[in-house]
Amino acid sequence: MTRAFKTLDDMGEVRGKRVLVREDLNVPMADGQVTDDTRLRAALPTVAELADRGAIVLVLAHFGRPEGVRDPKLSLALLVRPFSQLLGRPVQFVDWDAADDAIAALRPGDIAVVENTRFFAGEETNDAAVADRMAQLGDLYVNDAFSAAHRAHASTEGLAHRLPGFAGRQMEAELDALDKALGNPEHPVAAVVGGAKVSTKLNVLQHLVARVDHLIIGGGMANTFLAARGVAVGKSLCEHDLAATAEAILAAAERAGCTVHLPYDVVVATEFKPNPMTRTVNVHEVAAAEMILDIGPAATEALGDVLKNCRTLVWNGPLGAFETPPFDAATVALAKTAAALTQDGSLVSVAGGGDTVAALNQAGVADRFSFVSTAGGAFLEWMEGRQLPGVAALKR
Ligand code: 3PG
Repeated sequence: MTRAFKTLDDMGEVRGKRVLVREDLNVPMADGQVTDDTRLRAALPTVAELADRGAIVLVLAHFGRPEGVRDPKLSLALLVRPFSQLLGRPVQFVDWDAADDAIAALRPGDIAVVENTRFFAGEETNDAAVADRMAQLGDLYVNDAFSAAHRAHASTEGLAHRLPGFAGRQMEAELDALDKALGNPEHPVAAVVGGAKVSTKLNVLQHLVARVDHLIIGGGMANTFLAARGVAVGKSLCEHDLAATAEAILAAAERAGCTVHLPYDVVVATEFKPNPMTRTVNVHEVAAAEMILDIGPAATEALGDVLKNCRTLVWNGPLGAFETPPFDAATVALAKTAAALTQDGSLVSVAGGGDTVAALNQAGVADRFSFVSTAGGAFLEWMEGRQLPGVAALKR
C-alpha cells in the first residue's frame, strides 16, 4: 500500500547512519518512578528495528514543559533506565553540551537518548538555528511521536525539512488507524464524545456531525445540550451560555443526517463524592438540588444497540464522572459492548485522549479495541479535522 508518507520500509540501507528518532517519552512520573509506561513501550518497535538494522539510533524527545530552562527534574536521563529495561538493551544518555563527541563514539546498533529537546528555548518556537543544530547530529529523521505531532516544534516539524523524513512504526500505526476511523471509514460510523465541557470540544463536534452517522454525547457536555433543549438539569455541570452553540450543532447534525444521541435516563446525586445516595431518573425528573453524574442504564443499553449496527467507532471522552464510583458505570458498560463487538469482527474501534484511555483501562478493555491512541491533544486536534504539523511535514 502506498501511503502519503514514507515509513521505515522506505529508508533503504541505514547501517552506520545516524538516525534521529523523535519519540514521545512524555510519561507521568511519581517519586522518580514511571507510573504509566505506555509511551515508552510504544517507542520500542521503531528503536529496536533501527538498531537491528545497524543504525546509530539517537532518540529525541521532550519531557514536561521546562520552557527553555534546564530542570534536573525534567532531564531525560531519568528515563534512560526504565527505557533500557523495557527495550532489553543498553541505552546511553547524551547531553546537548557534549553531543558531537558522544555521538561520534557510537557504533552501528547503539542506542542513545538525547537530553530534553525543550531545554532549548527555540524548540517550541521552531527556531531555525535550533533545528539546524539538531539536524547536524543525524543523517536521517524518523518521527514516531504522533502524540506530539500537533506541535510545530523544531524536533517535530523543523527537522523534517532538514533531513530525509520517515514515519516510525507507532506513527504509522496511529495514522493508519485514524484513517480507518475517520479518513476512509466503513459506515455507519459512530462517535462517542464525552468529557466535562462543550467549550473544549466545540470544533470536534462541529467537524464530526458532517462525518459520522451517530454522535453519542456524554459527560458534562451532554447537560449543556439537554439544557439547550429546555431540560432542567438542576445543579449539573452545564455551560448555559453555550445554549445557542449547542442548538447550532444539533441543527448542523440534522442537516447532515447525523443522529445525535443524548441520554434520556441519567444517574443523579445531590453530592459529588464516591458512592453517595443516587437516583436513576428520566432526564425530565432531575430535581433542582441534583446533579447528573452518569448516563442511565436504559440509555446505555440503547447506545449499545446503536453500536451493534455500526461498523466503525471513534471514542473520545468518558460518558460520566468516571473517576468517582459508581459514575463510571455507563462508560464501562458501553466500552465493554464496543470491545465485544470489536472482538466479534463487526466493529473497528479507535479511541484516544488521556481520560479515555484511563477509562478504557478501568473497564479492562483497552487491549480489545482495534486501536488505542497514545495521544491526548494530538488526538483531539485530529478529531477536529486539523492538519497536524508534524504529520504534514512528513508527507511525500
Ligand atoms: C502530550 O503529553 O500530550 C504530548 O507529549 C505533548 O505534550 P505538550 O502538551 O506539553 O506539548
